[in-house]
Amino acid sequence: MAAESSEKWILNVTAQTPTNIAVIKYWGKRDEDLILPINDSISVTLDPNHLCTTTSVAVSPAFTQDRMWLNGKEVSLSGGRYQNCLRELRSRASDFEDEKKGIKITKKNWEKLHVHVVSYNNFPTAAGLASSAAGLACLVFSLAKLMNVKEDHSKLSAIARQGSGSACRSLYGGFVKWIMGKEENGSDSIAVQLADEKHWDDLVIIIAVVSSRQKETSSTSGMRDSVETSPLIKHRAKEVVPKRIIEMEEVIRKRDFPAFARLTCADSNQFHAVCLDTLPPIFYMNDTSHRIISCVEKWNRHEGSPQVAYTFDAGPNAVLISHNRKAATLLLQRLLFYFPPKSDTDLNSYVIGDKTILKDAGIQEMKDVEALAPPPETKENPTQRHPGDVSYFICTRPGRGPVVLTDESQSLINPETGLPK
Ligand code: DP6
Repeated sequence: MAAESSEKWILNVTAQTPTNIAVIKYWGKRDEDLILPINDSISVTLDPNHLCTTTSVAVSPAFTQDRMWLNGKEVSLSGGRYQNCLRELRSRASDFEDEKKGIKITKKNWEKLHVHVVSYNNFPTAAGLASSAAGLACLVFSLAKLMNVKEDHSKLSAIARQGSGSACRSLYGGFVKWIMGKEENGSDSIAVQLADEKHWDDLVIIIAVVSSRQKETSSTSGMRDSVETSPLIKHRAKEVVPKRIIEMEEVIRKRDFPAFARLTCADSNQFHAVCLDTLPPIFYMNDTSHRIISCVEKWNRHEGSPQVAYTFDAGPNAVLISHNRKAATLLLQRLLFYFPPKSDTDLNSYVIGDKTILKDAGIQEMKDVEALAPPPETKENPTQRHPGDVSYFICTRPGRGPVVLTDESQSLINPETGLPK
């Protein structure tokens, strides 16, 4: 074997993987180890320019154990989910040769060689923005490239699924369906792309990162409790979701925004109803989340047809999907009216991502926020403003799937030491 421990070479790959937001939710497993869901789900991939994980992976005969660093801190790779992903990838690795660098790794060598993983999110992990989906998808995608795994994205999605269920949908851009599958070994529980990110590119997404003091129940334990105790989840998985999946696929194909919004909001609300139907009940949304729902519902009703869809995952943050730029501009004005920053906050760090929406809304400085008039739909019902209840907003859009970053300067690993840069 060429991979002797006296050898100095380090081989590395860097990749970038997006996060995703489900519009038909995954909630509940039929197999906890393999992570097999009780229903199909559909998601929108978010633009990696605003929300993504970048991961560099390296292999070297000099490494003595598998190691991982996440956002600058070393974390353990010993967990069952990481181990399952690593085992699946190693068993699919292929021969690799770089004659110039004198590197030759056979399929068998991959079983013994150790890897280093350095991962970084371009958004705060603490914000509760599906960092595990992007993170696990990026780990699997980058290691698959490093190990010369020749499987297609759907096969890789089945590996990412074993790291975190929602991660399997981050292997593609645009609109993605996770097919629950029937096989006991999970081989047919894979993600497929329904439409790429160009298919419906006038959608604009605004995420309200809601301030929260509460420690949330993890998705993993929350859905376990729901499966064990909620009568509603059974009805949802058996009767409701299968019909919604068919409708949602059609609605996406036709770019029918009103139907898309109705389905997305209904499915988010039913997921949170299942949480409430769980024993003990789980509360992911808080007062601010409820106020955002009221604001959107009132406005949609006032307009006669939906302008914006809302959806909430296992936390209080709102993901708001607008029909187009015009609707997103009007939405941002409403959001900033109800949820202005605290007076000492810099507007530039309060609305991040695609700032052109802020410009379109005619808002340049704090005084423009202060001058916002109450939305017309609240005329008879004057409402309060709630400064500080939202931490910040991220303006984004549907985005592309994972990519390999070939520019060495973007690598997070020092090519000499194999440690984080
Ligand atoms: C509410 O994928 O985080 O975001 O499979 O246990 O890792 P595990 O759970 P996870 O659950 C995501 C739940 C959700 C809905 C969704 O993304 O479909």
